[in-house]
Amino acid sequence: MAVGVFDSGLGGLTVLAAMQERLPDQAFVYYGDQINSPYGVRTPDDIYQLTAAATHSLWEQGCDLVILACNTASAAALRRMQEEGVPKGKRVLGVFVPLIEALTERQWGDNSPPREVDVKNVALFATPSTVASRAFQRELAFRAIGVDVEAQPCGGVVDAIEDGDMMLADALVRSHVEALKRRMPNPHAAILGCTHYPLMQSEFQDALGADVKVFSQAQVVADSLADYLERHPNMTGQAKETKYLTTGDPTKVTMRATQFLRRRIEFIAA
Ligand code: DGL
Repeated sequence: MAVGVFDSGLGGLTVLAAMQERLPDQAFVYYGDQINSPYGVRTPDDIYQLTAAATHSLWEQGCDLVILACNTASAAALRRMQEEGVPKGKRVLGVFVPLIEALTERQWGDNSPPREVDVKNVALFATPSTVASRAFQRELAFRAIGVDVEAQPCGGVVDAIEDGDMMLADALVRSHVEALKRRMPNPHAAILGCTHYPLMQSEFQDALGADVKVFSQAQVVADSLADYLERHPNMTGQAKETKYLTTGDPTKVTMRATQFLRRRIEFIAA
């Protein structure tokens, strides 16, 4: 049918927008689980159950490939879903690995032993649940040595963005950056490890300072999807139109999505 893109809320739209730019003829089905958002304060088991249910719903609607455009879901649910086995002909992929490959300057699928990389001090900003999972550090350790990661659980930022309270989101971003800088005064690079955070990218950059390279997932995930679809052309589906589904209130979600992406995005009930 089309490529499925899942997030707990609006954050995955940052990834979807980059995918649409990179692959203008590809159709997508976006699924935002607003009714259960935020995921980042839930238990791993809870996140697994919700993510698996949403992914199965996208598979049942005919999406052969589902991208978890959510770090919290990628950290807490992806490995378990893959280990438990996915239905024949279906695939689910996350957003972590492409980002870490970009940070460690690796090509897709380069499984050579971990090696030294340019960045030494990395600041990671993510939801409390992603930080607690240590999934980022685990994936990084497979690819790089000698990198010091300081992680900041950014409580409250996703809720503020979903509520459209950008003043609160701004204040929270600044206080989370300050808290991290007390523990790591001079990060070389910062990872925005939640797909909602690119909506606050300039606030993060401003609070971190111009000399800190900020990595966000949208572009790297879009490039890696383009590469994947070139190698697996049967996963693109036949659909021509992109659809936006939400478990929340479609009118409210349409308004926020339109405001963030600065173009009309019409959500319908999932
Ligand atoms: N966009 C999700 C992520 O990348 C936000 C998770 C949440 O709902 O807290 O982690």
